[in-house]
Amino acid sequence: MITINELRSKYIEFFKSKGHVEISGKSLIPENDPTVLFTTAGMHPLVPYLLGEPHPAGKRLTDYQKCIRTGDIDAVGDTSHLTFFEMLGNWSLGDYFKKEAISWSFEFLTSPQYLGIPVEKLSVTVFAGDGTIPRDEESAAIWKSLGLPEDHIYFLPKEDNWWGPAGETGPCGPDTEMFVDTGKEPCGPECRPGCHCGKYFEIWNDVFMQYNKTAAGNYEPLAAPCVDTGMGIERTVAMLQGKDSVYDTEAFAPILALLGDISGKRYGAKENDPEVDKSFRIVADHVRAATFILGDPKAVMPSNVGAGYVLRRLIRRAVRHGKKLGIEGVFLAKPAEVVIQNYAGAYPELIENRERVLGELAREEEKFLETLQKGEKEFEKMLPNLLRNPQKIMSGRLAFKLYDTYGFPIELTEELAAENGLKVNREEFDESYKKHQDLSRAGSEQIFKGGLADHSEISTRYHTATHLLHQALRTVLGDHVAQKGSNITAERVRFDFSHPAPMTKEEIARVEQIVNEQIQRDLPVTMQMMPLEDAKKAGAIALFGEKYEPIVKVYTIGDFSKEVCGGPHVTHTGELGKFKIIKEQSSSAGVRRIYAVLE
Ligand code: ALA
Repeated sequence: MITINELRSKYIEFFKSKGHVEISGKSLIPENDPTVLFTTAGMHPLVPYLLGEPHPAGKRLTDYQKCIRTGDIDAVGDTSHLTFFEMLGNWSLGDYFKKEAISWSFEFLTSPQYLGIPVEKLSVTVFAGDGTIPRDEESAAIWKSLGLPEDHIYFLPKEDNWWGPAGETGPCGPDTEMFVDTGKEPCGPECRPGCHCGKYFEIWNDVFMQYNKTAAGNYEPLAAPCVDTGMGIERTVAMLQGKDSVYDTEAFAPILALLGDISGKRYGAKENDPEVDKSFRIVADHVRAATFILGDPKAVMPSNVGAGYVLRRLIRRAVRHGKKLGIEGVFLAKPAEVVIQNYAGAYPELIENRERVLGELAREEEKFLETLQKGEKEFEKMLPNLLRNPQKIMSGRLAFKLYDTYGFPIELTEELAAENGLKVNREEFDESYKKHQDLSRAGSEQIFKGGLADHSEISTRYHTATHLLHQALRTVLGDHVAQKGSNITAERVRFDFSHPAPMTKEEIARVEQIVNEQIQRDLPVTMQMMPLEDAKKAGAIALFGEKYEPIVKVYTIGDFSKEVCGGPHVTHTGELGKFKIIKEQSSSAGVRRIYAVLE
């Protein structure tokens, strides 16, 4: 029976035999990409190369990558959703295309030397086409030529067979997804690969990147089409091991066994209420994800914004479900240790950062347990009044106060209420909760969209330079200039802005001169928080169409520039050095692009 470690090495070995270079997977925390909180796919760290930047290791690459998808934290607990997972991938950077990619996928899946999946169990989906992008007959023909029966090839629309960019813009294209038939009965006449009933198990996806989606929403053909593939390790191993669920594989079995030991219950026991098994899965998934986040070389710590907030939620949800299983006191370090040992071979950073992982988990856990105690005390104080209510109903607003002020989870309020013969008005609670969530979501988006993922000194200097450039462009070209995007690396800033025509040499020189004057004036950079309306009244530039929370951060550079922005910035412009525009070119219709450096 194939193991996770074997699948990883077989895959890499196979693609090396096809001329690929193995590169190492990257951090879970994306570098310099403010559009997402975590690395969500193997392709994510490779985006610049998929867009044409040369990769030092060549044009054929393969690796395994740690990924986190948090879109559906609340869905975790069923038998297939994971927050953390590993993805295998192989890439062609403008080298081979559909024919080789599909042929190799077919060979790896079916060859007895590799996965040995019988052809009759395999089905694939390909892109059916839409108004702008044609039907992918080419991929279908390649699958057929390899011996896949025609009725195992399904044409599906964009929702199923299209890989969009990670953020708003970037490389994208049609894909072909590979499924294994588990032998279960179809759920109905409509059952087909992509149906979620469990008959078809998706294991691999070959994406054919042929387009770049621009800020204006157009699809431009990429100069050199690329291939991006992704195989989910946990799912594939579950399928190969004949298991119904990823939780039955060695990725989780030892964690679940340990949780069984400390709770006195057993995962999957016949007598279990489904909620018990669900709690087991939630603790196991969340502690694994939290261990990888804290064990990452670029770890974030639990906090109330962005990635740190996701980490905090994972830890707290794990604690809560641990309590539901009957586990007393601080316990997360134990399953985390199992994760570290289980994955040390493939991810040595977990061993290097072991102290931090265990320490931070325990700290956050203790803090949360205190919160729970405080909440219980507050509830007890409220109780005499609550009991006087003839309908025996606790108002949702009161429950929300416990949640909002003390972080006390609604489920626990409901439990305590039930123990005292009371019912919580859940509808009212949900209403308050939703209002609160919309606000905080807008808040964290603002901080991350307008902010810098990489807070290194050099990136921070470029970030401040970006504000100077933005204002200088408006001064020279006019107030129609609006930022359409920016990207900062340690070497340069790339800045996209609306302007209908190429800039003249004189305009470029004038913009450079203005920016450098502001640097020489050594202007102070200051930050204030204020309501968005006040920021606009004060003349701060805010990006049109951007979602902001009601209170925003405004960065002011002397008397020169004022922008709504998440930061960070330098404290004085004198720190920036000399500013130079090295290229000005078209980005898309009505949008110009500048590359500039600080010397
Ligand atoms: N990037 C593609 C995926 O994650 C391969 O499915």
